[in-house]
Amino acid sequence: MCGIVGYIGKNEKAKDVILKGLERLEYRGYDSAGIAYSLDNKVNIQKENGRVENLKDNICFSKKSNIGIGHTRWATHGRPSKENSHPHKCNKITIVHNGIIENYIELKEELKKLGYTFLSETDTEVACALLDYLYSKTNDMVKAIELFKDKAKGSYAIGALCDDDLNTLYAIKNNSPLIIGIGDNENYIASDVPAILDFTNKYIILEDGEFAKIDSDNIVVYDKENNITNKEIKEFEGNLGDIDKNGYDHFMLKEIYEQPEVTKRMIESYVDQNNDIIKDMPDLSKYKNITIVACGSAMHAGLIGKSLIEEFGNIPVNVEIASEFRYKKLFIDEDTLVIAISQSGETADTLEAVKIANKKGCDTLGIVNVNGSSIARETSKVLYTKAGPEIAVATTKAYSAQNTLLSFIAYSLAKNCKDKDKLAYLNTFLKDLNKLPVLMQEILNNHEEYENIAKEIYDKNDIFFIGRAIDYALCMEGSLKLKEISYIHSEAYPAGELKHGTISLIDEGTPVIGIVTDEKIADKTISNIKEVKSRGANVIYVTTDELNKNGDFYDKKIIIPKTNKLLEPLLTIIPLQLISYYVAKCNKCDIDKPKNLAKSVTVE
Ligand code: AGP
Repeated sequence: MCGIVGYIGKNEKAKDVILKGLERLEYRGYDSAGIAYSLDNKVNIQKENGRVENLKDNICFSKKSNIGIGHTRWATHGRPSKENSHPHKCNKITIVHNGIIENYIELKEELKKLGYTFLSETDTEVACALLDYLYSKTNDMVKAIELFKDKAKGSYAIGALCDDDLNTLYAIKNNSPLIIGIGDNENYIASDVPAILDFTNKYIILEDGEFAKIDSDNIVVYDKENNITNKEIKEFEGNLGDIDKNGYDHFMLKEIYEQPEVTKRMIESYVDQNNDIIKDMPDLSKYKNITIVACGSAMHAGLIGKSLIEEFGNIPVNVEIASEFRYKKLFIDEDTLVIAISQSGETADTLEAVKIANKKGCDTLGIVNVNGSSIARETSKVLYTKAGPEIAVATTKAYSAQNTLLSFIAYSLAKNCKDKDKLAYLNTFLKDLNKLPVLMQEILNNHEEYENIAKEIYDKNDIFFIGRAIDYALCMEGSLKLKEISYIHSEAYPAGELKHGTISLIDEGTPVIGIVTDEKIADKTISNIKEVKSRGANVIYVTTDELNKNGDFYDKKIIIPKTNKLLEPLLTIIPLQLISYYVAKCNKCDIDKPKNLAKSVTVE
């Protein structure tokens, strides 16, 4: 959603640190950007519509500042505009905020009666006025924050300054991520680790209800009961290379090409080659059913997991869109395992779904990419996807790592299966898995083939993906990738369903990507592909070298190397990712920061 960075330090590097950090966080939201910093012992605020670079162009770096807070915004309350951008200042208090103050309307009315006026449409300005009012009553920021926590409802990660003490930075956390970076004679706050990696890899994670009083040399953290508490200092395992483009045109392309490396890392982390077992895997065979909760691409990975776990693990799996799961009648209990899939580990809907599952007495398992994130901490057990920081808003390597873990789960469950058909896959699983990074690289080396396909379809208005069973799940992810970054309308359809209405949209030259990787239903799907081809569609046929059929039912064919059934989706998705990337590139879209989107949706 939004990105927050704050600095306090004797080295007086507030502007440099904050603007660098905001650039690193821009994937979290980029409608507008702003900074507040000390100048002649007063707080000076600058904010600009659009990207951080617009703000940077208007900052004078010659005058140093010892303290500051900055913000990149993904608009929730109030359209993207300078008035609505952060920081907001109200009398002595200046804040930046990520989250939603759910009771801001009633708070605004109360504050208006106390004489406060408001310039913006935002809930953040209300939070700022509330903190100012409470400070004016207590003349003590710690007490004011304690009272603020009682009054403000909803999600907030707040960085705050008080005019009366510009040697102290305050951080307040509830349901939106916030960390404290530890430097030499300086300290930092940020929404996420990449923002501070240029300056330190040591950090503290604030938990819900906690807040901190920070100066150049000291960090005092108060727990949710407002008592001073000691916090573990974590060290980020990655490095700056993880958050630079390293020569690629876009983070998304870099992260697509990182997939073989990520797969190798997952194998090294999870596979005990000698004993042919998946390490750290809990015993999931005791559950009568599994519910997967997730959003977007993570939900699409869940659909892949459903297909594999049901077929190989013989456990019924229900995949729920987290924002739907939260408000529906649920049939889950202690016999249900709820698996929450999330790259960021901060998606509000998925986090709330986990809290509901925990309350229902279910065991919960997180499949998460960000260590120590909210969902990782909320679930009973977590398996990390080890994809490294994923910067592009459109997920690729993390999605694939999620599918790798789901194939490990299906494989672990299948170990006791007696079905001889499945045994054939199980007996070759490790060998096939160890070969997978090489096969991924072979597909990546064919990138020109996918770029040429993209050049044929980039100017079309509608692009369809069709497939059956697990291929339909892949269609959904391929279609989302295309929509997200190229803004072309696209739909994924179960191949057998097209003739029940949507085939009316197929015209001469309409691109249809037909995915056929499951031999059991290959003929059926090819029949559906022929139906669209006979109506003029421009068919791109995606299949495996084993199922490769020639004929006049396609215009272009993409051959995926045949691998283990448990692993095939990990190969099939790569051409779809690259086609989307090149279509967006042909359309000169902002691939890493698509309009209206943010990397982590920490609001409902
Ligand atoms: C995928 O490319 C999108 N960025 C989006 O659908 C994303 O998968 C979804 O918001 C879930 O995010 P999460 O994995 O961080 O929970």
